[in-house]
Amino acid sequence: MIKTAPSILSADFVNLERDIRALGPAGADYVHVDVMDGHFVPNISLGIPVTAAIKKISPLPLDVHLMISRPVRYVEEFCKAGADILTVHVESDIPANIRAALEKTKALGVRAAVSVKPDTRAEAVLPYLELCDLILVMTVEPGFGGQSFMADMMPKLRTIRGWIDEKNPSCELEVDGGVNEKTAQLCKENGANVLVAGSAWFKSPDPAAFNRALKA
Ligand code: DX5
Ligand code: ZN
Repeated sequence: MIKTAPSILSADFVNLERDIRALGPAGADYVHVDVMDGHFVPNISLGIPVTAAIKKISPLPLDVHLMISRPVRYVEEFCKAGADILTVHVESDIPANIRAALEKTKALGVRAAVSVKPDTRAEAVLPYLELCDLILVMTVEPGFGGQSFMADMMPKLRTIRGWIDEKNPSCELEVDGGVNEKTAQLCKENGANVLVAGSAWFKSPDPAAFNRALKA
């Protein structure tokens, strides 16, 4: 089953509650929450208090994407704030600390995930594959919404899909960046089952129709 995860980075922050409450009725499966620290990525977005506030009003599970350096420091706080899936970047710390972040997440009863930036090879997820409930393949350089989809990430996606099927079939495979009706088809053909969409979702005049197009 294909799932959708609208990224609220492109929502209207003045009307965040309204925009989040509209996601479920439009058919979305997760709320994708992008956390940026101005260090791991050159942008700052939102953090723990806003995640906790979103949790209070969101009927959908929170898919929290940490684009921060040394995320293990904040795992507990994001889990307590209400993350249902917590994603850390493999590039954001040394391997022992990435593993510790995943283990901590799972110990707190939250689904654990790793993400890879475009320049990172597929092999970087292998040490964590058995620990992960989801793997996120970036199809743009993380940091900003509204960038163009990198179709050259499709071989990486397909490779990771092969490893998931072999070693951890219940693990989900998510793509993030530049996803629209067209590029979603490529992502699905190459094995993704969770599609993040920010600007395309929130620009759509009919999100329910857009959601159906992503899943079709
Ligand atoms: C980028 C974020 C994405 C972003 C996607 O760093 O991780 O989740 O919001 O936005 P679009 O769909 O506009 O590329
Ligand atoms: Zn994201």
